Amino acid sequence: MAVTVSLALFLVTTFVLSTHGIIYTQPEQVHLALGDGPTEMVATWVTDSSTKVSIVEFGLNNLTQVAKGIEEKFVDGGSQKRVLYMHRVKMTGLKPGSQYKYHVGSSLGWSDLYTFKAIKNGTDWPVRLALFGDMGNENAQSLARLQEETQQGHFDAVFHVGDFAYNMDTDNAAVGDAFMNQVQSVAAYVPYMTCVGNHENAYNFSNYKSRFTMPGGDGNGMFFSFNLGPAHVVSFSSEYYYYTNYGWKQIANQYKWVENDLKEANKPENRAKRPWIISMCHRPMYCSNSNDPEHCTNKENTIRVGLPDIHAYGMEELLYRYGVDLHFTAHEHSYERVWPTYNLVVCNGTKSKNPYDNPGAPVNIVTGSAGCHEGVDPFEPVGFPWTAYHSDDYGYTRMTIKNTTHLFLEQVSDDQKGKVIDTMTLVRDKHYAGMYDCHLKQKKKN
Ligand SMILES: *[C@@H]1O[C@H](CO)[C@@H](O)[C@H](O)[C@H]1NC(C)=O
Ligand SMILES: *[C@@H]1O[C@H](CO)[C@@H](O)[C@H](O)[C@H]1NC(C)=O
Ligand SMILES: *[C@@H]1O[C@H](CO)[C@@H](O)[C@H](O)[C@H]1NC(C)=O
Ligand SMILES: *[C@@H]1O[C@H](CO)[C@@H](O)[C@H](O)[C@H]1NC(C)=O
Ligand SMILES: *[C@@H]1O[C@H](CO)[C@@H](O)[C@H](O)[C@H]1NC(C)=O
Ligand SMILES: [Fe+2]
Repeated sequence: MAVTVSLALFLVTTFVLSTHGIIYTQPEQVHLALGDGPTEMVATWVTDSSTKVSIVEFGLNNLTQVAKGIEEKFVDGGSQKRVLYMHRVKMTGLKPGSQYKYHVGSSLGWSDLYTFKAIKNGTDWPVRLALFGDMGNENAQSLARLQEETQQGHFDAVFHVGDFAYNMDTDNAAVGDAFMNQVQSVAAYVPYMTCVGNHENAYNFSNYKSRFTMPGGDGNGMFFSFNLGPAHVVSFSSEYYYYTNYGWKQIANQYKWVENDLKEANKPENRAKRPWIISMCHRPMYCSNSNDPEHCTNKENTIRVGLPDIHAYGMEELLYRYGVDLHFTAHEHSYERVWPTYNLVVCNGTKSKNPYDNPGAPVNIVTGSAGCHEGVDPFEPVGFPWTAYHSDDYGYTRMTIKNTTHLFLEQVSDDQKGKVIDTMTLVRDKHYAGMYDCHLKQKKKN
């Protein structure tokens, strides 16, 4: 009899629950991002059901510190209008450079236990990064190597330069969930800093805006900046120039914001502390792929020179004027290192044999070969004058910002079992707005 009653109760309970949808409060898709400075780190995760509260328990040897944050309801734009709950919690008061343990969740469920290192204090330490774009769920060929190197402690942060999952909104955002779970083994251990790509465009970029928590800027991760050791990093949207159906004004807003940010970064007291300025957006200004006439063969590349005909809001001139050292892009499913170039003219450094020793213009790198179901992109048979090196091997970029004058970059080929297929040493004795002379050379020629 007792058995029958409890069975009946069980059936009733199950029925009540299922009429309200499945209750699922286990945290998943855990990932980190930088907060404001070395004493902060932000954790973001997802639950299928609301948990009302969002908590990170963390500490050096135990989990005695508690940080509380917010839960946000997210409604995907697909036909099912799927609901997810995004949790964002900022840990504060961290001891710079110390290793922390943490888990995320609430009394309704906790994640696995993860670790991260709080960012080091000050500006005088070598920053080690992995950078790549265009990584999908299917054929994420570089992911295993990135997981291994991240968990071995090789990186202080990872930059994903646009195009995630292919696509996060696909299949009523189930592909976004699967992707965020796949990269958890990287992104739960180091800050996973992002940039928006064209594959995120659905429903006004809502999956991208909701799933990540980037510091400052527009508050949605479309444009923002942060400091890391001796570097100031600016991430902005190349997609505003193409998805103008979501609003033209965003192009001008972003341009103004980036200009102000670069002005601030160039204040003598700031640039002295953080001499390297690194920018990133998804679509390239320079590339040599044969299947992308919009970006590679177009002398009026929109991101580079600005909007068609009126040439407003071109990014190349802005980055040049404010002495940006290095600009990362992706979109092409390949790797390309570009000679120091401005306005389609190569301006190598002349101080030594190394063209990247105090170059006359910013350096562009395309790193979009992490791996996705679209395969790799072919190159033009005859190269462009600005192409220094390019490769269609799947892989990613490693970079060490060594100190105020030296920065090392290498391209890792996953096809060749982790072999380094390209290297660059960028040297800059003094960094300041107006430090480039490429425009003078071009005037002389004319
Ligand atoms: C937790 O770790 C901190 C830092 O090491 C220590 O001060 C504190 O006493 C520990 N608390 C417990 C309950 O073990
Ligand atoms: C970081 O370094 C600065 C300058 O040395 C110092 O004033 C500040 O207290 C340090 N912050 C932390 C959290 O250690
Ligand atoms: C798209 O989102 C931005 C905020 O990120 C908002 O300002 C804009 O108005 C939105 N556009 C449309 C068409 O909803
Ligand atoms: C830049 O340097 C590279 C490597 O030395 C060289 O091949 C290339 O021709 C140079 N370009 C110009 C315009 O000087
Ligand atoms: C930076 O590191 C490079 C290479 O290790 C070294 O040659 C250079 O002198 C260093 N610069 C400063 C300012 O310490
Ligand atoms: Fe793309």
